[in-house]
Amino acid sequence: MILDILKFPDPVLRTPARPVEAITGETAELVQNMLETMYAAPGIGLAAPQVGVSQRIIVLDLDHENPGDNVIKLVNPMIYEAEGEVVFEEGCLSVVDFTAEVQRAERVAVSGYDDNGDEVDIEADGLLAVALQHEIDHLDGKLFIDRISRLKRDLYVRKLKKSIRTGREMPENRGVVI
Ligand code: NI
Repeated sequence: MILDILKFPDPVLRTPARPVEAITGETAELVQNMLETMYAAPGIGLAAPQVGVSQRIIVLDLDHENPGDNVIKLVNPMIYEAEGEVVFEEGCLSVVDFTAEVQRAERVAVSGYDDNGDEVDIEADGLLAVALQHEIDHLDGKLFIDRISRLKRDLYVRKLKKSIRTGREMPENRGVVI
């Protein structure tokens, strides 16, 4: 089932998500719905708070040519190693019509559980490392616009308010939508 994606400034996006205490059939169903929603959007990652569920769950798939082959499902993900620096042009399914360069760690190691409750350990670099950090930020109530200059953020917020006021839709995202 494709779920609605919340958009900034929805307060759920600003709320730190709770750890999942038991991985159940309900968790697996949510993960499935998140994946369908992510592919339909389309985006390469999605965090549960973006669909209004304040739980620490993320999904990612960088390979939309072969959906599902390289899918990552993470419950209670934690970054336990991060090194280097990389700058990437990021967008977000919850932040309409805006992309910006964001600085993050170049390589990360992340642990967590899949939707069966099995342990998952991932070492990533490049876009996957960026996407993992972006999604885990969502679980902490953080958006990529919190990691850019205040001036750029304010410009965006003003533009967004204007589009809401005038009822005119903002164009779709163009950059890498995470
Ligand atoms: Ni995002």
